[in-house]
Amino acid sequence: MIGGPGPVMIRGMGGEEVTRQRVRPGTFRRILPYVRPYRGLAILLLTITVLGAGITVAIPLLFKVIIDDGVIPRDTAVVVWVAAAAAVLALVDAAGKLAAARLSGRIGEGLIYDLRTEVFRHVQRQPLAFFTRAQTGALVSRLNTDVIQAQQAVTSLLSMAVPSVLTLLLVLGTMFYLSWPITLVAVLVLPLFLLPGRLVGRPLQRLTRESMHQDAEMGSLMHERFNVTGALLAKLYGRPDEEADLFARRAARVRDIGVVTSVYAELMLISVMLLASLATALVYGLGGALVIDGAVQIGTLVAMATLLTRLFAPLNQLSSVQADAMTALVSFDRVFEVLDLKPLIAERPDARPVAAVRVAEANGGGDADGAVAAPDIRFEGVAFRYPSAAEVSLASLESIALPSPERGENPPVLRDVTFTAPAGRMTALVGPSGAGKTTITHLVPRLYDVEAGTVRIGGDDVRELTLDSLRETVGMVTQDAHLYHDTLRANLLYARPDATEDDMREACEAARIWDVIAALPEGLDTVVGERGYRLSGGEKQRVALARLLLKAPPVVVLDEATAHLDSESEAQVQRALRTALRGRTSLVIAHRLSTIREADRILVVDGGRIIESGVHEELLDAGGLYAELCRTQFAAARPDPERDRLPEPAVAGAPHPGPGMGPPPGPGMGPPPGPGMGPPPMGPRGPMGPPPRG
Ligand SMILES: Nc1ncnc2c1ncn2[C@@H]1O[C@H](COP(=O)(O)OP(=O)(O)OP(=O)(O)O)[C@@H](O)[C@H]1O
Ligand SMILES: [Mg+2]
Repeated sequence: MIGGPGPVMIRGMGGEEVTRQRVRPGTFRRILPYVRPYRGLAILLLTITVLGAGITVAIPLLFKVIIDDGVIPRDTAVVVWVAAAAAVLALVDAAGKLAAARLSGRIGEGLIYDLRTEVFRHVQRQPLAFFTRAQTGALVSRLNTDVIQAQQAVTSLLSMAVPSVLTLLLVLGTMFYLSWPITLVAVLVLPLFLLPGRLVGRPLQRLTRESMHQDAEMGSLMHERFNVTGALLAKLYGRPDEEADLFARRAARVRDIGVVTSVYAELMLISVMLLASLATALVYGLGGALVIDGAVQIGTLVAMATLLTRLFAPLNQLSSVQADAMTALVSFDRVFEVLDLKPLIAERPDARPVAAVRVAEANGGGDADGAVAAPDIRFEGVAFRYPSAAEVSLASLESIALPSPERGENPPVLRDVTFTAPAGRMTALVGPSGAGKTTITHLVPRLYDVEAGTVRIGGDDVRELTLDSLRETVGMVTQDAHLYHDTLRANLLYARPDATEDDMREACEAARIWDVIAALPEGLDTVVGERGYRLSGGEKQRVALARLLLKAPPVVVLDEATAHLDSESEAQVQRALRTALRGRTSLVIAHRLSTIREADRILVVDGGRIIESGVHEELLDAGGLYAELCRTQFAAARPDPERDRLPEPAVAGAPHPGPGMGPPPGPGMGPPPGPGMGPPPMGPRGPMGPPPRG
């Protein structure tokens, strides 16, 4: 994560507001479109279910025939044939149930698939700001747990609720036909069966929600503490006992909820069984008396008792279906919350590709160096502040957001930034920490949108360009040069999946990392990252550079690692850089004098403004902030100011100055605070920024 939130905060037990949350109205209606693609399967499932319900009723009726028309008149043929028919029906019923299970599985798993892929895509489209605020663990839990639970609603409705209602109606109808007085008594008892579900449903819903919340919190904590960087931080600063306590408290709550839930579930089962036994006793008591009176045949009584037992399963299911459906509605609701987040940065419907990409596509791919297509980058009066939590529209997702005291808007980070990074040239950004250098570079690939002003690539406002073409045009190596926990090969291929072995080798050689990789026992197949081979900071940056070279974008943004490199690796990175940036438009945040001296143009950033611009010598002569930085910050990296003043060797192949090299029009280049700063002289290497006012 780039520019993420600072140290990780430990969250308190803040589950209350979540558990009190209710399912939003309209959730149920929103589920229907997800079920629609499975209409065909669902209809098939229902047909099988109806057939099954018919068989459920038919078998006790056959028993009645066996007793009344076979056993009592002593007709063996009837007994044998009808018993055989009952057996066949039972077989058909079993086959039908199997088919139904398969169908409902297909529907359910299909639903999970649909929801998951949709949520994944949607989260992917969120702006960077979203990820600086959302907790990864909690987000992952939404993608897993909630989606599964949401699916259970639909499956249980299809495979349990509907068949149960059907069976119930059929069985009751048949019983009524066979003997209405017995049925009437049974029906009077039936509402009691729904009572346990009603009583337990609501508390169960509340408990499930809280349990899920606590689970997610535990997941987040483990995620934060058990990745290498988090673990390192915890080892250095952490209070293990306190954290273990916090974790234990959450785990204890989940345990307690689990106990209550299982007791509730058992309570429901026990009360239903008890009611069932009482009802059976009632039927035999009343029915037996009626048989003795001759009002009812004995076969009818047996059939009634059997039918009654067929009532309990659907009743039992119906009582838990209600609780299940409620739990699952909650999950659907939570999934919809994620889907309802509007991405702040969206492509316009009429967006067009970056001009360079358009040209390259017309020519069937650009030059390997990307030199042909390199566009210029222009900032015109750009103002920017990081969006506040509310603006990232996380309000509905607060349960997975890092808590932050809401102080309204963030302060402005950039004010009236105007400059041109000429096409095919290297522009260096220097300035104190927190000046806004990384922020400026984030605006180029549109990781964030400006508040005022315009960012242009090749003359086009980035907001009018397609996100795909922006991604293709702008390559970035970030300050922490993140690599995925995967093989080096996979990390390299991430930038260009169709790269050959030779391409990768070439890129790695250019980035001066091939020797290191070749020396590894498993070479490109070495797994790097959390549980793999740990690359040093400099090595990681060079792998990231190789990844960038492989992608060969016309625009390169480089956030140089601040970590100190020894002079050997510095020279290596330097040579790698020279290759990487040749012929490309590059914006480099430089911390090393060697990089800065390679730049065609230097912009000095301070307090969110560009306060000086020019080449090394001029800026040094001007005696402003740059001269100051050179004396303090950069000199430390290479303590030889005299050598640094020597004219630098010509930069290899920086083919053509692009268009738009004119001095940027913007005002707002206030005079630098440094003493003795005269107007910067025009250097030999092209235009400077506008002269400072005053
Ligand atoms: N995601 C964010 N949300 C809110 N403020 C941020 C965010 N990222 C950075 N900032 C703030 O913006 C300002 C500029 O940060 P930026 O990362 O651009 O500095 P920088 O010049 O790159 O510094 P460094 O040399 O230390 O990397 C800082 O004050 C920082 O606190
Ligand atoms: Mg930075």
